[in-house]
Formats: sequence, C-alpha cells, structure tokens
Amino acid sequence: MKPFQIHPASFVKGEITLPSDKSISHRAVFIGSIAKGKTILENFSLSKDCLYTLGAFKKLRVKIKKEGRRLTIYGKGLKGLKPIESSIFVGDSGTTIRLLCGVLAGQNFDVTLKAGPSLSKRPMRRVLEPLRMMGANIESLEVRDNEEYPPLVIKGGCRLKAIEYNLPVASAQVKSSILLAGLFAEGVTVVQESIKTRDHTERLLYQCGVDIKIKNQKIFLRPPGILRSPEYILIPGDISSASFFLVAAILLKNSYLKINNIGFNPTRLGLVRVLKRMGANIDLRYKILDKNFQEPLGDITVSSSSLKAVYVKKEEIPSLIDELPILMVAASFAKGKTIIESVQELRFKETDRIRSMMEGLSYMGAKISLQRKRQREDIVIEGVDSLKGAKLHSFGDHRTAMALVVAGLAAKKGESLIDDVSCVSKSFPNFLGILKRIVH
Ligand code: S3P
Repeated sequence: MKPFQIHPASFVKGEITLPSDKSISHRAVFIGSIAKGKTILENFSLSKDCLYTLGAFKKLRVKIKKEGRRLTIYGKGLKGLKPIESSIFVGDSGTTIRLLCGVLAGQNFDVTLKAGPSLSKRPMRRVLEPLRMMGANIESLEVRDNEEYPPLVIKGGCRLKAIEYNLPVASAQVKSSILLAGLFAEGVTVVQESIKTRDHTERLLYQCGVDIKIKNQKIFLRPPGILRSPEYILIPGDISSASFFLVAAILLKNSYLKINNIGFNPTRLGLVRVLKRMGANIDLRYKILDKNFQEPLGDITVSSSSLKAVYVKKEEIPSLIDELPILMVAASFAKGKTIIESVQELRFKETDRIRSMMEGLSYMGAKISLQRKRQREDIVIEGVDSLKGAKLHSFGDHRTAMALVVAGLAAKKGESLIDDVSCVSKSFPNFLGILKRIVH
C-alpha cells in the first residue's frame, strides 16, 4: 500500500454534514430487529462496523430494506430471531459482538460469533462474566492468560435471571449488553455505573416504552414482555467523526467551519467541554433539545483558537473515550502542560492507542509522556510551538489515522506519510473526501 501524504495546510473553511452516529446506528438496528413491528431508521451509518451489525441481523432472518441511508426493519420480536447459518462473522466491530452476546444469550438456538483479526485480540470476559451471572451459556474458543477472546459460542435455551451489577470498567458496550440481556430475564436488572458512559441504549429502550429508570447512575430495567417498536429513529451526525474537524479548525489559523446536525448527547460531549476549557471558540446550536430522553442534536460552529493546557479528570474519560487521540493532538499545540488522567482503557481499542499516538506524535516533535500509578496511566503533554511532518503508522486503527492526518495538516513544516489510511472506513469511509473539500 502506498503511504498517504499530508502537507501542512493554511486553513479549513466551509459547511459540512458528517456521517451518522455509529453507536446509535448499531443500537437502532438491534432494537428495531428485536422489537415487534416496523421501524424506520433515518440516516443510518454506512461505516463498515454498522454494516456488520446490519448483516448480522439479516443472518438472523430479520427483513431489513435499505434505501441509501434509510432502513426499514421488520422487527421479529424478542424471541423471533433464527440463524440462517451456525456462525455469524462480525468483522472487527466490538459493539456488534458485545451487544449481540446480550441479545443472543436470551434466544433458543446455538450460534458462534466469529471476529476479524483486530477484534479477535480484544477482551470479552468483561461482557461474558455478567452474562454468565444472569445464566447465559457462552464459551470462548480462545482463552489465554486469564482472558477470553472470540470466537464465542452462545448456547440457547437458557433461562436468564436479572442481576444487580456494579460495572468494574466504565464501558457502554458492557452496560448495553447486560441491559439487552435484561429484556429476556426474570426480574429487574440493575446496573450501577461509577462513571456515566454513553446512554444511547437506555434512551432507545425508553422510546420503546420499556420501564427503565435511572437514579444516581443506577439503571433499573424491567423486562417488557413484548418490546414495542419505536417506529421512527432519526440518527444524528457523529460527534466522534466531527471531533477531527473541530480540532483541525481550531489549530489552523483563519479557519471557520459549520458542522450540521450533530448528536449533542451529553454523555458524548466530553471533547467539546474540554476544548472549551482550553479556550476553543466552539458554539453549539440545539435543534432538538435533550428532553423526554430523546437524542438531542444541532449545529456546531468552530473557528481558530489559541489553546491553553488543562487537566482532564478520570470522570471525563468515558464522555471522550474515542476522542482521546485527537485530544492528544490538540494538547500538543496548547500552551502549558496538559494531563489526561486514567487513559488505560485506550490499550483495549482497535489498537493500543496510547502506544500508537505516543509514537506518532513523538515522531512529529511533540512532548508526550506517560505516568503510571498502579493500574492507572496518565498522559502528560507539554505543548510545543509547532510539529513537523514525519513518517507515521496508523497501526490499522481508524481514529489513530484520522488524528495523525489532522496533526500532519497542523504541522508547521514537512510532509507526513501515514502507512495506512484505508482503515478510516471502519467509522468514516468518506473522511478524506470531506476533508479535501474544506482544506486550503
Ligand atoms: C461504544 C463504547 C465505547 C467506545 C466504542 C463504542 C459503544 O467502547 O469506545 O467506540 O457504542 O457502546 P467501550 O464500551 O469498550 O468503552
């Protein structure tokens, strides 16, 4: 593969609409498929990961009509799924496999979930443990060093019972998997979060009329018997995709961008809050308010700003977990020392993003280091006046690739070469196309 070349840019300018939210797109297909009746999804994400979720439910005999980014799902009801084959391949999509475990644990058939090369190296015990406590029968075919990896064999016909579970890692995928299994369980499922993670599953279930209550970050879910279709789900633009454009506009002088129809779910706005604290000119205009537990959305305007260093606390991490690579780029240009607490979860993403970003940014001249305190790892970044182009590796990770592209554009001098940017299609197939339109 030929490396991708990036040259320092002068500014970005324009108005853009970005692909739809990946997390909500996955969940909308899950809920639409196991609800009873027809659900229309508007603005579905055509990222590779979401297409794997779509493919998985088609293989479970759910009829889904796709017209561009509009899906019509003819939901089968909670117990109506039936596999066409004995195994389902979920690519490298972590959300697909972990949430599927929750739904499939409650069915009456056996099925094996197989994964691609990067997902096959990601830990699954965090979901398997609570599901087994609920009575699920799931076996990993790859057990190594006290951890379990795909393929996963899920046996049907288990009677699930509700549990009360304290999430040991702040993970929306684990929480969602338990809540989805809770739809099939006897009794009220209770999940306690110590740090709040994205709540798209809870919002969608609420829109289906499920009795779901949240008090002090404790979620109570009563199984509905019949899951009613939410009928229509409008999926907003992805704030995680927007994050790369926000930072590009902030770092490049004389820049101005308007980004339309982005999801403003507060559990996803961590990067916006941190960038504002750093002094960024970002303005959010709400078009749908955060009312009645629906997904809020609106337009963002952003312009060039000078940034100052900040301290990012561990409580903020889940709300910007996927934005940490691009936050590290922004912090490299901020005046002073930025500390980002408790980033160790980054080691379990598509690649070890602590390693990939520290390597890339160091090659470009950033001052980035790691502080270890028992289990905890903090990133320390001392802002510099400029970065320079370098030869860079994405490690096949979409967010590392996109963050390094922005770093290359914001560098003062020198060409950057990234070995593989094709991986961006995992979340954002047209990233480079949109970028080209606005970069000058
Ligand atoms: C996601 C949750 C996060 C995030 C991932 C999407 C989700 O993962 O990093 O990209 O859709 O629930 P974890 O649950 O592992 O933190």
